[in-house]
Amino acid sequence: MYVDVLLGLQWGDEGKGKIVDYLADKYNIVARFQGGPNAGHTLKINGERFVLHTIPSGIFHEGVCNVVGNGVVIDPVTFQKETSKLEALNIDVRERMVISLRAHLILPTHKLLDAASESRKGQAKIGSTLRGIGPTYMDHTGRNGLRVGDILEPDFKQRYQALKEKHEELLGFYNYKDYDLAELEGPWFEGIENLRRLKLINTEYFLNDALAKGQTILAEGAQGSMLDINFGTYPFVTSSNTLTASASIGLGISPTRIRKVYGISKAYCTRVGSGPFPTELDNDMGELLRQKGSEFGATTGRPRRCGWIDLPALKYAAMLSGLTDLIITKIDVMNDFEEIQACTDYEIDGQKTQDLPYDLGRKDLKPVFRTFPGWQKDIGDIHNFDELPAPITNYVAFLEDYLKVPITIVSTGPGREEFILKEQVSTL
Ligand code: IMP
Repeated sequence: MYVDVLLGLQWGDEGKGKIVDYLADKYNIVARFQGGPNAGHTLKINGERFVLHTIPSGIFHEGVCNVVGNGVVIDPVTFQKETSKLEALNIDVRERMVISLRAHLILPTHKLLDAASESRKGQAKIGSTLRGIGPTYMDHTGRNGLRVGDILEPDFKQRYQALKEKHEELLGFYNYKDYDLAELEGPWFEGIENLRRLKLINTEYFLNDALAKGQTILAEGAQGSMLDINFGTYPFVTSSNTLTASASIGLGISPTRIRKVYGISKAYCTRVGSGPFPTELDNDMGELLRQKGSEFGATTGRPRRCGWIDLPALKYAAMLSGLTDLIITKIDVMNDFEEIQACTDYEIDGQKTQDLPYDLGRKDLKPVFRTFPGWQKDIGDIHNFDELPAPITNYVAFLEDYLKVPITIVSTGPGREEFILKEQVSTL
């Protein structure tokens, strides 16, 4: 029938996993369309923390089909770990998931190339998760990559060997020698065997047939809008498109099938890795946000950089993705704060603007903040929007007015039940 898209609006880590987990059983299908195991979608299931890297967050729901689309890059090793963990919880991954034959494979040498390229960049490094994402997408557009479908071909080993040798030459160019490829290849080929026993199909037909039968799809984005390869803070970005339009190419569904676009933003802002971050708080307040919000990377464990919410950047992301519904997460992290701040404008060359400059890292850009009163109250037990303290409802009203997008959900804690529906989520 239609596709709804769910995306992060900031630099990733907005809390997408939990929201997809809530929305998942309102759809027939949940589909990942870009990125790879650089993502870490955290869910709390029965009090236990579970991090999904490549498998869609609908996997915990019986009756929901999960699709790993053609736009995703798969590391067979991480994938196997993920499937084993889920199977240990008695989740029938084979039954609940299909994988695109066109998705590209991350080779062990892609990860080495990621590390070699980053170390060559020195101070200018991107701060990559080193999961091989960039080199794999480079091979994709360079028309050298290996795809899931290739593992079913009789000459797969030769194709692997040819690409590996090419990568080894490149590693030589970087003078990168500190690795034992044989050690990495063992688990990789085991991961390939694991993939072979799963359902590998032409997901574009599967998804379009489902739409024709009246089924609904939730497309689950990874990373965040400001990490988009075209519109993010280039070159400090990831290597895929992270905006709504990417769902179309990464799944093989027409843009005309897309209905709603749910965008997720934290009530403040974080970034992991290098690159511009105008509202960053490199002080005690930043540290407080980090500690209270447990802001440490779900994939790499790195401490996240923390700061106030950046509304011009959020407005930009909302524009690029045609946002229809805004979801605010982690507002509870600021429960104790006397006051909170939001960046409403940038001052560039003495001029105020809400437009993002070509280079968000330009030295003369100053964020202009507006201060809002805090609420100094625990909100964990509140399940009705109207019962929230007035400073929160006023702040939400301000955000809606600034962004011209209604807020649908306010998430008030990490648990599955800790959120407030401001508007009914309509899947019809
Ligand atoms: P890569 O995609 O691993 O090459 O990393 C490129 C940049 O994107 C780095 O700054 C990473 O920290 C950041 N990044 C990649 N994936 C995520 C994510 O899922 N959440 C947050 N940051 C990410």
